[in-house]
Amino acid sequence: MSLTASTKPAPTDADLLQARYGAAAAPAAAGKLNDVLRNLLAHRTVRAYLPDALPAGTLETLLAAAQSAPSSSNLQLWSVIAVEEPGRKARLSQVAGVQPHIEQAPLFLVWLADLSRADRVAAARGRTMEGCAYLESFVVAAIDAGLAAQNAAAAAESMGLGTCYVGALRNDPERVAAELGLPPRAMALFGMCVGREDPARASDIKPRLPQPLVAFRERYAAPQAEVELVAKYDETLSAFSRSHGMGDVNWTSRLFARMGSVKGLNGRDRMRAMMQALGFELR
Ligand SMILES: Cc1cc2nc3c(=O)[nH]c(=O)nc-3n(C[C@H](O)[C@H](O)[C@H](O)COP(=O)(O)O)c2cc1C
Repeated sequence: MSLTASTKPAPTDADLLQARYGAAAAPAAAGKLNDVLRNLLAHRTVRAYLPDALPAGTLETLLAAAQSAPSSSNLQLWSVIAVEEPGRKARLSQVAGVQPHIEQAPLFLVWLADLSRADRVAAARGRTMEGCAYLESFVVAAIDAGLAAQNAAAAAESMGLGTCYVGALRNDPERVAAELGLPPRAMALFGMCVGREDPARASDIKPRLPQPLVAFRERYAAPQAEVELVAKYDETLSAFSRSHGMGDVNWTSRLFARMGSVKGLNGRDRMRAMMQALGFELR
C-alpha cells in the first residue's frame, strides 16, 4: 500500500501499522495512535527535494526540538552545523559518494560528537578534561547527538518537511572536519538533509523487522522461528523495493553487503585511526 503525501483520505491507524510492518506482521495489539504517534509511524526518508527555501524560523525551531532531547548528565556533548552554501553542500556530497539530495535540500545539518567544548571549558580554567580521552566519552557524545538529531527529524516531519540522514560523511571524517573547520575532538557523525519533498518523486513508508525479532520481554530471547521470520521480512522488503523501482533488495542481502565483508565498510574499517587523527584517543 502506498501512503505518500498525495494519498487521500489520510491513512488510518491500521494503514500506518500495516505499512510499517507489512500487512501480515502488523501488531494487532497496538493501541490507538495519537498525532505524535501517527507522525512517527509515517516516517520515511526523503531523497528528492524542491528547491524552496524553508520558512523563516525553521532552523531555530528544529534546534529547540533537538535541544529538548535528553542528554546524558545534561552534558550536551554535541553540536550541529547548518550548511546552506551550495558549494559547501556540493563538497560534502562528494565526501558522501555523491548524493544529489544533499545539494537539492535547502538545509543540510551536520551533527557532531563534540568534546571540544569541554576541552575549552577546562583550558579556560587552566585545567584538563581527562575524561575526554576515553572511548566512553565519545560514546556519550554520539548517543546525545543521535537523540538530538532524531528529535529534529521528528520535528521537521511534524512541520511537513522531509529529512534524509547521511552517514556517508564518515567516509572521510578528516575531509569533513577540514571543510567545516572543526576543532580537535569534534567529529561529524552524520548529516541530515532537510527540505520540502518533491511530490513527483515521493517516498513511502519502508517496512521494518517484525516486533518479535527485535523486542523481548524480561530477557533476551531470539525467537525459535528467527530464520523463518527473517525470510518473511525479506519477502516483504523485496516486494517494497521492487514496487519502488529499487530492484530486488531485501534485508539479508543489504546486511551482507554492508557487514558481510570489510569491503562493505567502505573504508570505514579505518575509523579508529581516522578518529585518532581528529583528537579522539579512545582509550
Ligand atoms: C545514521 C544514518 C545514516 C544514514 N545514511 C544514509 C546515507 O548516507 N544516504 C541515504 O540515502 N540514506 C541514509 N540513511 C537513511 C536510511 O537508509 C533509511 O533510514 C533506511 O533505509 C530506512 O528507510 P526509512 O528511513 O525511509 O524508513 C541513513 C540513516 C541513518 C539513521
